[in-house]
Amino acid sequence: MKKYFPVYVRVPLLFLLFYVLVEWVAGGTAQRPAFVDHPAVLILLGLFLFALIAVEIVALATNRVLRRLMTPEEIAEKEREDNLSFSDRPWVKRLMQKMTRTKGISDENELLLEHDYDGIKELDNELPPWWVGLFYITVIFSVVYLLRFHVFGGDNQIVEYEKSVAIAKEQIEEYRKTAADLISADEAQYLTDESSLAAGKKIFEMNCVACHQADGGGGIGPNLTDDHWILGGGVKNIFHTIAKGGRPGKGMVDWEKTLKPSEIEKVTSYVISLNGTTPASPKEAEGDIIWSKAEIDGASGDAAEATEPATETSDDAAEVSQE
Ligand code: HEC
Repeated sequence: MKKYFPVYVRVPLLFLLFYVLVEWVAGGTAQRPAFVDHPAVLILLGLFLFALIAVEIVALATNRVLRRLMTPEEIAEKEREDNLSFSDRPWVKRLMQKMTRTKGISDENELLLEHDYDGIKELDNELPPWWVGLFYITVIFSVVYLLRFHVFGGDNQIVEYEKSVAIAKEQIEEYRKTAADLISADEAQYLTDESSLAAGKKIFEMNCVACHQADGGGGIGPNLTDDHWILGGGVKNIFHTIAKGGRPGKGMVDWEKTLKPSEIEKVTSYVISLNGTTPASPKEAEGDIIWSKAEIDGASGDAAEATEPATETSDDAAEVSQE
């Protein structure tokens, strides 16, 4: 062995192996090795290196002492053994013989059976023990497999699949619960259901009435009930204005610091629902962008998405002709 792994290869190699093992056990990653978080790992590595070097020194010393005690013939014998190639070592040879008890082609005559089928003869050779061993292992495995999955009802692939689908569904549910707060201006919808509008109204009353009045008539902030918009109408623009604030210095702050996206969506919907109502003391219209709630097609979508009437009629015509 010494010939193949001199000390300057052996020690670093063993140390590296040990390091990989420790990292694996301690759960370190390539980006963040375990010894960063756990100084104990460093101590362990240090101790191991120390032990490795100590063992090498002790082994060297004992070898020297042994050599001094040996007779010249013994030394010669040992050297001869050390210089043998790997496959000629006595222990390697013994192992190989054990693992392949098969007789070589030269001994074929002893193995030949009496049978003779049109000149085809049969050899009765020993099966290689490594092969026989593997065969027994597969037999044992099959028994364990049979008992586990067909007698004691272990999960088969279908059950395993169904279980992981169920877990995935739970995870999606979990995600959905929080995903309500990942809405962007583009995804925001005009929510028309009672509870969303009621929630939006509450948020509006708590945060916005100081500047926009409870009925949206306007004060410090512009009138939110008319069709004139300074910063643009539609779900997307209004959501954006509330989230990011108005023009600098005007007083409309970016509410995304205080409100969750889902809350902004609700208050946006409430603001839209105020459009077209008549406040007690409306502020005069501001802004050149004209937009009204009527432009929302159904419950969601912006004005820009209006479909062209031409295609609609042709679709209708096609349907009629099919009937
Ligand atoms: C401190 C006063 C103040 C508060 C509080 C306030 N706003 Fe405003 N808001 C303004 C001002 C001022 C503007 C005009 C911004 C500009 O001209 O850029 C405005 C603009 C807006 C606009 C755009 C109007 C347009 O014509 O484009 C919307 C929508 C709006 N606010 C909604 C809200 C909502 C919803 C809240 C509560 C979450 C709120 N505001 C709270 C002062 C306020």
